Amino acid sequence: MRAIITGVGHFVPTQKLTNKDLEKMVETSDEWIVSRTGIKERRILGKDKGTSYMAVKAAKKVLKQTNTAADELDLIIVATSTPDMLVPPTATSVQSKLNATKCWGFDINAACSGFVYALATASTFIETGKHKKVMVIGADKMSAILNYEDRNTCLIFGDGGGAVLLEASDEDDLGVEDFIFHIDGSGMKYLNVPAGGSLMPASHETVDNKKHCVYQEGKRIFKYAVTEMADISLKIMKKNKLENKDIKLLIPHQANRRIIDAVSKKIGLGDDQVVINIEKYGNTTAGTIPIAMSEAYQKKMMKKGDWIIISTFGAGFTSGSLLLKWAID
Ligand code: UT7
Repeated sequence: MRAIITGVGHFVPTQKLTNKDLEKMVETSDEWIVSRTGIKERRILGKDKGTSYMAVKAAKKVLKQTNTAADELDLIIVATSTPDMLVPPTATSVQSKLNATKCWGFDINAACSGFVYALATASTFIETGKHKKVMVIGADKMSAILNYEDRNTCLIFGDGGGAVLLEASDEDDLGVEDFIFHIDGSGMKYLNVPAGGSLMPASHETVDNKKHCVYQEGKRIFKYAVTEMADISLKIMKKNKLENKDIKLLIPHQANRRIIDAVSKKIGLGDDQVVINIEKYGNTTAGTIPIAMSEAYQKKMMKKGDWIIISTFGAGFTSGSLLLKWAID
């Protein structure tokens, strides 16, 4: 049994936070942000809505697109680092809002790599024959954990999410073909949200010191990202006897335009082989890859039978590449 993507959709909030807006909030400039990151604007969900809001919007689009009833779903996996609440899993909120009455579900937190890890997990459930239809969602409300006085982080991230329906198929040569994933905990110190977990529970002090917000050492992450994303992508290509000309599209995690360009160059891919939308949304963490996939699909950038490589890295460090053959006509 193979796991194929039969539908993909995304949701981003309408409210925009532009580089010009950020110029008024921290010491930065539109020119610096564009030249160093490629980002022009990002989306903000606003108060009183959590990640599940975006997850549900994206999932509903996919159900409609694939003509699937919510109660046909066997499993919902939500990849997020910004769950609605620490407990219970956001998947439960999504399940109830979708009225998906015959499924189970859980969250995966693998930072920016969450969606790709969720896709691999879902594909494994399908390949065993255990499940037929799995909704895989990647969404994050990063604005909830950013310090808008910290120019090292606040200009990079944004809110958004996307979803795919993964289904069982007996067509041998379509769908998820392979994945290679790494984690490296020596990277924990370079990108984290220190407080709010069991190690440093919330206190007046953690709030005063902004310990519930993202901390990052950008340069360290940058170097790791370029090397790791390129190396794993090349490894999965070699393992599956593919050359750069065989790859229709690379869908990379959107963290920095310069990271994406460096990775594509190392793999030897042309501009038309790489999906880039970071200028519009910034880094939406677990949301970047399904959003990029959804936009690429809308633009008809891939057709049935095309090889796609998804490549990711994130806090942890977590990283990986997943190879699939596109299955939608
Ligand atoms: O999913 C993973 C999420 N995280 C990442 O992917 C982060 C990866 N890293 C990056 O994207 C980049 O390292 C950043 C965009 C965070 C920073 O870019 P950089 O090219 O590494 O900048 P830098 O920290 O080396 O700073 C270069 C200069 C410095 O000035 P001097 O010392 O050269 O005079 C900084 O003070 O730019 C200055 N600078 C800024 N200027 C305007 C640093 N941040 C800013 C800013 N606006 N926001």
